[in-house]
Amino acid sequence: MPYKQFNDVLISAFEQRETPFYFYDMDLLRKTLSSCSIAYTAYNYHVHYAMKANFNPKITESIQQAGFGADCVSGGEVKKAIEAGFLPSKIVFAGVGKSDAEIKYALEQDIFAFNVESIQELEVINSLASAINKKAKVALRINPNVDAKTHANITTGLDENKFGINAWELPDAIAVLQKLDNVEFLGIHFHIGSQILDVNVFKSLCVKVNEFSSWFEERGFTVKVLNVGGGLGIDYHEPDSSAMVDFDSFFKIFHDFLEVKPHQEVHFELGRSLVAPSGSLISRVLYVKTGIKKNFLILDAGMTHLMRPALYQAYHQIENLSNQNKKDALKYDVVGPICESTDVFGKEVELPISERGDLIAIRSTGAYGEVLASDYNLKSRGPDFFKE
Ligand code: LLP
Repeated sequence: MPYKQFNDVLISAFEQRETPFYFYDMDLLRKTLSSCSIAYTAYNYHVHYAMKANFNPKITESIQQAGFGADCVSGGEVKKAIEAGFLPSKIVFAGVGKSDAEIKYALEQDIFAFNVESIQELEVINSLASAINKKAKVALRINPNVDAKTHANITTGLDENKFGINAWELPDAIAVLQKLDNVEFLGIHFHIGSQILDVNVFKSLCVKVNEFSSWFEERGFTVKVLNVGGGLGIDYHEPDSSAMVDFDSFFKIFHDFLEVKPHQEVHFELGRSLVAPSGSLISRVLYVKTGIKKNFLILDAGMTHLMRPALYQAYHQIENLSNQNKKDALKYDVVGPICESTDVFGKEVELPISERGDLIAIRSTGAYGEVLASDYNLKSRGPDFFKE
């Protein structure tokens, strides 16, 4: 049976509140976490939650309690992860521009691994670790030149992207590693992009990981950690019938295509697939403009509350919660109140006839929604609503 995120009781509760606000379905989140952990423990894999997707403490605490580690991209995220209860021994830290202060902080916390993105960063980590008599555990983030076949703005694993160390730099990287006393080589890390729906992309990644793993081991390096990153996409078009991602099939691809030696561990960094379906942005219609060529629904939520459509032309399903009678539908351009032409949530969206005051849900916004919000135009936002 398809999942239903909203019922009449919830909708009446929404009516009492200041809009816009983010709604989180904690029950769906827990079910998602449990289905993911059953799937990954079957293969003894390790999953670090990508904090950047949503660092709301209620959400990160649930994820931590479900046994996940954390994947961070700043000192601030490492700190937030520790505050949420994640064990430092389960925290990985990536990012092309780690500052000295962030590296020092993470060293002091004894995190599981730095995912190192350049040779120069390796040298900086070594000298900062040596200054405080520590040995930093590192995985080299390698850019495998695999096309994630997703939106160009969320592709990270191609030669032209700024992320990671390129294959041709690896001989230099191992020469440097051999000279450094305060770094311990743990393994290799990859992350090729986000919202990946084509399973062949993950198969191609596995082939590359196998090649790089052998390359290091043939040169006398023990590759204990194979960290294949995140990127698993969700179905934004069917938020109810596909409320939960098929984690079994995802991990099975790696089980089938990754050559894992007995001394190796496989790590993942999932963000979107864990949290996106549980969130919705709830908004009200402020004005309806009916025109000859177009009808506009002007909402009280805008691109400053949810950036994804303006930034990546991302699709989010839009629903009228106050009028669900689809018999008399009209097409609307659903827009926000912000003074920018890109402040559009959807064009030609078919919706029941909508009126000022109707509640509108913008679905699947639990990942990269609230975290990307800004103060531009100083539009307010109501407190988050959590359904247990
Ligand atoms: N690991 C690393 C190193 C990453 O950079 C990311 C995401 C992840 C893991 C988690 O990827 P996920 O499983 O969530 O796909 N703001 C964009 C997405 C940016 C993703 C950045 N990196 C969006 O709204 O689509």
